[in-house]
Amino acid sequence: MPAVQHFHPGLDGVIACETSISYLDVENEEIVIRGYDLIELSRKVKYLDLVYLLMNEKLPTADERNRLEQELKKEYDVPEQVMSILKLLPSATDCMDALRSGISVLAGFDPELDNLSNAANRRKTIRLLAKIPSIVANSYHAIHQQELIPARQDLSYSANFLHMITGKEPSALEESAFDQTLMVYSEHEMPNSTFAARVIASTTADMYGALTGAIASLKGKLHGGANEAVMNMLLEAETPSGMEALILNKLKNKERIMGFGHRVYMKKMDPRAMLMKEALLKLIEEKGSRELYDMCIIGEEVMRREKGLYPNLDYYAAPVYYLLGIPIDLYTPIFLAARTIGICSHVIEQHDNNRLFRPRVNYLGPRGLHP
Ligand code: ACO
Repeated sequence: MPAVQHFHPGLDGVIACETSISYLDVENEEIVIRGYDLIELSRKVKYLDLVYLLMNEKLPTADERNRLEQELKKEYDVPEQVMSILKLLPSATDCMDALRSGISVLAGFDPELDNLSNAANRRKTIRLLAKIPSIVANSYHAIHQQELIPARQDLSYSANFLHMITGKEPSALEESAFDQTLMVYSEHEMPNSTFAARVIASTTADMYGALTGAIASLKGKLHGGANEAVMNMLLEAETPSGMEALILNKLKNKERIMGFGHRVYMKKMDPRAMLMKEALLKLIEEKGSRELYDMCIIGEEVMRREKGLYPNLDYYAAPVYYLLGIPIDLYTPIFLAARTIGICSHVIEQHDNNRLFRPRVNYLGPRGLHP
């Protein structure tokens, strides 16, 4: 047995596994996805191209992309029983908990749940990608006693997702901004939620179990939950000067400012945040008031000046979602929906070449006690 010597709190800097899915090359400011730069992809292709790339290790031709979209559309329907259970949830239910419950229930309807072969896992990935947007959107409607909105076959995958959330057909700009948010959230190497999913999958647990574990992880404010907290902070601040005062006050009280800092990027701006900043500006040009953008800029300046910290993706994704008319409670569930392809790709990779995760500890408790 190898000697157990190194302790890295929070597994900081520890290599957890080998992967050919993605890698954060911080020095060169590149998020590598199957050999491509995520930011370049997000400017040039669509979310479903990225889904295809993650699943097939190559970008699709137009035909291949259309076939993927058709396959997804065939699987849009969510069993009525899942929706009935969502309708029973109390109105105080957090949308991430509703999503976790919805996916747990969905597991029982998947005929290949315990088949961990590569082919079956890929089919489950398609089913999850097809049904999760409806569970995300309609769990919110169910909790708020609103009419559920069925999926529309005549819209693109992203436009249908946004339509099921807002009940409105998105403009071309809204559809493309939303699609871009799905891309930047799609995959990001080994964040806590993906690690949680791989740890669960390494016991040969199924994909639905791994995904529900990832949802529990993503809910936390130090991870995906930050995008909702950012928007609540912007709304509380109301104005650019209010934003500066609010952040300074929070820092005085030793509070963390949501949307800033990152374990890997540390003192650099998250490249995904830069893309979302551009998307925000485009939406502002179409939708009027610049005040929201100015508040974000002030926040960015104050944090750089006071703490030397830069925005992460959640800081700029939050106001983009706000301008798209999305309820704040859905920001983190949408993050999960977008990340489903990344998490499922990691589960497939784990199942295909598995080694059980089982680390050791530095024991600090007493020894030699007797009852
Ligand atoms: N606001 C204020 N101070 C901060 C922040 C922040 N957002 N982030 C880090 N710091 C400070 C810490 O207080 C600490 O200061 P100290 O050394 O004086 O005690 C120092 O920076 C280092 O912080 P750590 O917690 O060691 O850094 P870590 O790498 O663990 O943190 C994390 C990464 C958790 C993301 C952190 O920056 C944070 O809490 N950010 C706010 C939450 C957030 O935005 N999460 C989203 C992450 S990105 C995503 O999920 C898409």
